[in-house]
Amino acid sequence: MKIDIITLFPEMFTELKKHSIIKKAISAKKVTINLVNLRDFSDNKHRQVDDYQYGGGKGMVLTPQPIYDAVASLKKANSKVILMSPKGQLYQQKKAYQLTQEKHLIIICGHYEGVDERVLDIVDEEISIGDYILTGGEIAAMVIVDSVTRLIDGVIESESHLQESFNNNLLDYPVYTRPENFRGKKVPEVLLSGHHENIKKWRLEQQKKQTKKKRPDLMERGMIDEK
Ligand SMILES: C[S@@+](CC[C@H](N)C(=O)[O-])C[C@H]1O[C@@H](n2cnc3c(N)ncnc32)[C@H](O)[C@@H]1O
Repeated sequence: MKIDIITLFPEMFTELKKHSIIKKAISAKKVTINLVNLRDFSDNKHRQVDDYQYGGGKGMVLTPQPIYDAVASLKKANSKVILMSPKGQLYQQKKAYQLTQEKHLIIICGHYEGVDERVLDIVDEEISIGDYILTGGEIAAMVIVDSVTRLIDGVIESESHLQESFNNNLLDYPVYTRPENFRGKKVPEVLLSGHHENIKKWRLEQQKKQTKKKRPDLMERGMIDEK
């Protein structure tokens, strides 16, 4: 998969590309992450990319011209153009899985008061990472890049993410490592038993219990097999 990110702050992504699973996925050529500086596409002699809002109001708005031209320079027949926006659909694991099926993502990061509304005409999807306001789309774009990359086939063992929170609308089960007894707090007996069936049963029970307690809204989505 290729991911182009249109941003005013390409350097914010430098560290993201240098560590952990993203770094490995880049080395293994599972993903290419290309940073595109929005200012390079400004036809303004001062490389300006923002302007005042019509109608008045505080804060600048990203003008459509550099965004249109940046997208046009990157877009292929199979590209999906995503605008990071608090007004978008709320991002969930299901969407991350869907995005792994794409060959090419173009992610536009907004800034200031946001982007000129006419940019929506060249966008396939607006995505929000939560009901709060970030300064710019960069951190939101990183959330997409990270969550999608780790789901791409061959990046990590598929068994690892099949067991993770949100599959079947359940949170993950509790995990423990050494020591067996940490300051009087013991690892549940069943996990030391070596009895695989009982461990499996206990883990599923814990998943349901924890989801009911911490995220009842997930259970209300009604996709849990209670059998
Ligand atoms: C300060 S925000 C603009 C907020 C906008 N005035 C509003 O109230 O909806 C600047 C940029 O940050 C990004 N952004 C902020 N919050 C976001 C969120 N929750 N999810 C995705 N992107 C977000 C978007 O790209 C947005 O254009």
